[in-house]
Formats: sequence, C-alpha cells, structure tokens
Amino acid sequence: MAERLLNVRNLDVVLGREPGATTLVRDLSFSLDAGELLCIVGESGCGKTITARSVIGLNRTDPRFRLTGAIDFDGRNLLDLDERAMRQIRGARIAMIFQDPMSSLNPLHRISAQIDEALAIHTDLGKAARRARVLELLAAVGIPKPETRIDAYPHQFSGGMRQRAMIALALAGDPDLLIADEPTTALDVTTQKQILLLLARLRAETGMAVIFITHDLGVVAEIADRVLVMYAGQCVESGPVADVFRNPQHPYTAGLLASIPAANRGKVRRLASIKGAPPVLSEGRPVGCAFRPRCDYAFDRCADEPQLTATGSPDHPARCWLSGAARHSLAGQGAPA
Ligand SMILES: Nc1ncnc2c1ncn2[C@@H]1O[C@H](COP(=O)(O)OP(=O)(O)OP(=O)(O)O)[C@@H](O)[C@H]1O
Ligand SMILES: [Mg+2]
Repeated sequence: MAERLLNVRNLDVVLGREPGATTLVRDLSFSLDAGELLCIVGESGCGKTITARSVIGLNRTDPRFRLTGAIDFDGRNLLDLDERAMRQIRGARIAMIFQDPMSSLNPLHRISAQIDEALAIHTDLGKAARRARVLELLAAVGIPKPETRIDAYPHQFSGGMRQRAMIALALAGDPDLLIADEPTTALDVTTQKQILLLLARLRAETGMAVIFITHDLGVVAEIADRVLVMYAGQCVESGPVADVFRNPQHPYTAGLLASIPAANRGKVRRLASIKGAPPVLSEGRPVGCAFRPRCDYAFDRCADEPQLTATGSPDHPARCWLSGAARHSLAGQGAPA
C-alpha cells in the first residue's frame, strides 16, 4: 500500500515543565491519505486546535510546549525538521485556515497584495501571471466578479467573503493538506453551508486532503470520509463516518450524536446534551477514563484508563472498556451488560 500522506503517531503535547506540566494532547494517532477528508470533533477545550497547530508546526517554537511522538508527512517526521525546513512545508504543502479570517488576513493590505505575496513565495510565477492567478483563485472560492474586488481591503468584504479570501490565500501554495479549524463558526447558517460546500468542491477538484475541525457532528455527516472524536486531548473513537454514526462505540460519541439539532436529522426530537463539562486540562488530567464523571455507563474498571482498542471493525477503534473488543475481554468479569 502506498505511504499515507500524514501519519500522526503517539503524539503528546505537554505544556510547561515538571512539576506542574500538563499533557494537553495524549497518545494521539491518526492518518490521512491524499484527497481524504477527516473531521476532528469534540467540545471546546478537547485539544483540537492544539493538534492542528502541532501538525502545521506552530507550537514548535513556543518554549512552553514539548511535542513527542511523530508527525510523518510525506515520509518525513515533521518533529525532526528545523524551523527553516518547516517553513518550506508550511503554506506550500500544508496550509491552515482559522475560525477568524482576520488572524490570517492583514487588515492594512489589499486582498490582491496578500495572495500575490503568497504566490511570490510559493510559485515561480511572474508578476502578470500572479495577478491572473489571484483572479483565478478568487473565482475558485466563489467571489463574484473578482476583477472588481481584487484590490479591496479585508474590511470591505463581508464575513463570508473574508472567509473565502482566506481560503484563496491558503490555496495559493497549492497545498497537499488543508487544515480548517472551525472556519464557519463565526458565520450565519446559510454562509456556513456555502463555505462547507466550497471546501468539499475544492477538495474534489484539487485532490488535496483536508482536516476539518468542528464541534458540530451535523457538519461531519455532510462532508467527512472519516471522523476522529477527541475528548480531553485523546482520540476516544475514530472510523469511517458512516460506521461511527451508525454504530458509535464510545458514550461520548453517542452523546454528541444525540445532541445534533433535530433539523439536521430530519425528525422532530428534543435536543439531548451531555451532562457536565469536559475537564480543564491546564488544571491537570483526571485519573482513569477522562469521560468517567460524565458517563452514564461508568463502573469500577473506569478508574483505570482504557486503551484505544479495535471494535467490531479494526478501522473503527474506541477508548472505552465497554466498546467492541474491550467488551469481549471483559465478558465474565462482572462488568455491566
Ligand atoms: N497557549 C496555551 N497555554 C495554555 N493552555 C492552553 C494553550 N492553548 C490551549 N491550552 C489548553 O489546552 C486545552 C485544549 O485547547 P484547544 O484550544 O486545543 O481546544 P479546542 O478543542 O480547539 O477548543 P475550542 O473548540 O474551544 O476551539 C485547553 O484546556 C486549553 O485551555
Ligand atoms: Mg479550537
């Protein structure tokens, strides 16, 4: 089998120094093929952004963080690269878009100048060819009449248009992997939908892989090939989106599924929500299963931390004593049915 585009192996992200260090991301492994769309979901504070920033190498120069494990991208472990080598990957091979477009767009510079600068860095195009490419990119992200808007400043664009401009900027380097960190949460529902459809279309047209981060499982159903559910900095379940939706193995995933607004599921029902809140990781990790205090199924065994184990299908592991293979190994040990 061909090598995977991205292979994150046993990633730990530790904040601070002992004593008092906290592990914000713990033993996280996932992989992605070219052209694949992976959604990472989980409530606020579960470590989604830290994970994304680690993949694109934004934590590495921050002395407060220590990253261990491996982030293999196209055959090289990004954690072994120096900042100079990483800079050649960031923007060119891996690009990222953020929830707030203004974190990428400079309010003082014209949109055209910002995309032009990215093209000058990442391509060999001459000035006129870059101008033509800026227009092409703005058209590709659905900016109407781009020739009349190319020289606008970010504040002259609506929120949705700014988000499109930021996507155009991210595409300038023709990345193999685009990481989108909750790029639609600040937008109204109609615009959210348009941006989602845009990302799905660009993925199909360019063949780039996408990591889409969201706290909304409803979005996942619409666009993802695979889903990774994060809780307290760990993967608690991952698998092909249809499997995870049809047969959730972790109570946290089941809880998230039950809280998808009824409108997205085509039936009228009361919105369920998971009781309590996730642990604040910067205050230390809970002992045993991190979801235990919120879980209706918790039992003695949950005082020990469950490992990620295969369920019925090896492609769909979960971190719960009651899931798949773990359930079989517990049989006869007095666990609840
Ligand atoms: N720079 C930082 N310094 C200290 N703690 C941090 C830092 N960045 C993140 N954290 C902590 O790491 C944990 C995970 O944060 P992260 O931003 O990755 O969550 P998230 O899943 O992206 O949440 P959200 O959905 O709100 O964006 C949180 O407990 C957060 O407080
Ligand atoms: Mg975040």
